[in-house]
Amino acid sequence: MLRDAGVVVDQQPDDRPATRSELLQHVAEADALLCMLTERIDAEALAAAPNLRVVANLAVGYDNVDVPAATAAGVVVTNTPDVLTEATADLTWALVLAAARRIGEAERAVRDGRWPGWGPTHWLGQPVWGRTLGVVGMGKIGTAVARRGRGFGMEVVYHNRRRVPEAEAELGARYVELDELFATADVVSLHAPLNDESRHVVDAAALARMKPTAVLVNTARGPLVDEAALVDALASGTIAAAGLDVYEGEPELAPGLRDLEQVVLLPHIGSATTEARGAMAELCCRNILAVLAGEPALTPLNPEVQG
Ligand code: GLV
Ligand code: GLV
Repeated sequence: MLRDAGVVVDQQPDDRPATRSELLQHVAEADALLCMLTERIDAEALAAAPNLRVVANLAVGYDNVDVPAATAAGVVVTNTPDVLTEATADLTWALVLAAARRIGEAERAVRDGRWPGWGPTHWLGQPVWGRTLGVVGMGKIGTAVARRGRGFGMEVVYHNRRRVPEAEAELGARYVELDELFATADVVSLHAPLNDESRHVVDAAALARMKPTAVLVNTARGPLVDEAALVDALASGTIAAAGLDVYEGEPELAPGLRDLEQVVLLPHIGSATTEARGAMAELCCRNILAVLAGEPALTPLNPEVQG
């Protein structure tokens, strides 16, 4: 799309994240940057890019971009809302069911030839149907996850910075304080953006409040969970299971995490369908072309830059 529009594209040669020096080199002459969530776009990176007019982040989360610094530099920042909502909600449910029903563990046993044959007490997990779903962050993805939860007969409780009357009306979702959410939910699913307020929202104290049968799922951002505290909580049976798509220090995992059978580990693939990733890429390109043409970006995070 960009080349068709006459844009000269200086592209990272493969799908691996750009190193810091590659990034700083690539942006030196760039008018636009289509970046990944693995690239930190901070004041230093912006200073290295004197011609830059737009940063199009191929993600809905944008904690990797210093938006105030971009605004100060007169650079438009865009993200990719909406187009990945349903794909991410589907993947979240894959983790809910996999963690609750010990699918990773059971699949490994079958694959490794360790299945002794059917047994009445083999791989007993947690029920999902009719239980309580706790959603932390009732935005578009949290709401899409809660909607699926209703299909599993679940009661929905949620916590969010502001109340969400639409979710209360549509899903009967009940707003609760975090302490109550952790204490009552059978499945806790995280969908908040990463910021100073949400960092380590699930820490040792939160885990201690959860039921010993609870399942924790994180498809948002790794630092929402104190990963070392989660390893302890799983190892000691404080909670039953976890499903993770994101980590504090991706692609590294906290020590001990990969040794635990009761955690399902995915490599940050929440939005990874051909359709969603295609739509995200297209939205990034349309944002770039709009800004380069002097038109308003479609999904700007700092619309004030364009007045
Ligand atoms: C992926 O993690 C995203 O924020 O889109
Ligand atoms: C299990 O296969 C059953 O029939 O209950």
